[in-house]
Amino acid sequence: MMTIFTRLSVLASILLIQVGCGPDALAPLAPDVPEEAQKEIPDENDGGGEEPGSGTPAGKTLVVYYSFTGNCKSLATALAGYAEADVLEIQPAVGGLDYAANNYAIGSSLIAAIREKPNDATSYPAIKAVDRNAADYGTILIVTPLWWSNMAAIMQSYLFKEGSKMKDKRVGLIVSSASSGISSVVADARRLVPDAQWLGEALWINNSNRSQGEELVKAWWNGLSKSDNKMPNEIKITVSGKSLPVKIEDNVATKALVAALREAAITYEAHDYGGFEKVGGIGRTLPSSDSQMTTQAGDVILYSGDQIVLFYGSNSWSYTRIGKMQYGTLDELKSFLHAGEGNISVTLSL
Ligand SMILES: Cc1cc2nc3c(=O)[nH]c(=O)nc-3n(C[C@H](O)[C@H](O)[C@H](O)COP(=O)(O)O)c2cc1C
Repeated sequence: MMTIFTRLSVLASILLIQVGCGPDALAPLAPDVPEEAQKEIPDENDGGGEEPGSGTPAGKTLVVYYSFTGNCKSLATALAGYAEADVLEIQPAVGGLDYAANNYAIGSSLIAAIREKPNDATSYPAIKAVDRNAADYGTILIVTPLWWSNMAAIMQSYLFKEGSKMKDKRVGLIVSSASSGISSVVADARRLVPDAQWLGEALWINNSNRSQGEELVKAWWNGLSKSDNKMPNEIKITVSGKSLPVKIEDNVATKALVAALREAAITYEAHDYGGFEKVGGIGRTLPSSDSQMTTQAGDVILYSGDQIVLFYGSNSWSYTRIGKMQYGTLDELKSFLHAGEGNISVTLSL
């Protein structure tokens, strides 16, 4: 037997495809859906059945969830167990509302208000104060229901308020729906938490795979752990609000640097030296494997284990190579580094 929501949402998906994602798509729906339509429910992006691996990503982890009918609560509880995470439940300030009553009338109007003015704080329903600070965590895992193709309004309220605290943090997403696809929820998450390092693909739990929900959550988490342990090819350098990618080497220094950046970005002050470099102490010592070399503009180098040098000229010394900034012209590199103009604040991040 299809639930009423499966029936409604299959038709809703069809309507949404036809008319787009505007509030019109929330018009009352006919109750009956032919059996064929049920077969069209997309089932990609369902976790992919990867074998559980070992180990967990580094950093303190927070699972944040909202749940109206309990599905996300069980997923979040299971996930928190696998990830050894703290848990934060988001709750609406006004309790006891039935978001599904009268053909989902309250839920529909909350979503419609956000769609109409997504940048306006008054579009978001009030939520209770939270007792965990996202800024204290390296990894944040969001578990949310889908409402009318979008992220449930209550979770959107939380992310609208707190999403900026997740800048440069590792953020993952699990979405539970009856049957509707989750691409608009993923887009909501990207909009509300624009500067996160997103962890893998979002996991989609729906009525057709809900009975394996806990195993899918476990496989998703372990899959993230595996890819998380891979060395990235690049890190990012940010100066005065502008960023450049740095192609990095795979050596003891970069391995330690990446591990540190998985916990938090590193910001340090650098000064001009010798008319060819910006150099500064990063407040920690990385393992080095120094060798004599002649550097070139764009090189990112570890000097004496605890200083990072950004070259806009050349020097010969015994260093450990971190990588190379991917810049356009030499003038652009010099302008990015404020070459010869004194101290700058440099942020290294993943
Ligand atoms: C207001 C509201 C709107 C919903 N809209 C949809 C929808 O458009 N498509 C869908 O497949 N499920 C929809 N659902 C169902 C939920 O996404 C689904 O039941 C989810 O698992 C609920 O999670 P929870 O039990 O943690 O609240 C909606 C539920 C509510 C309350």
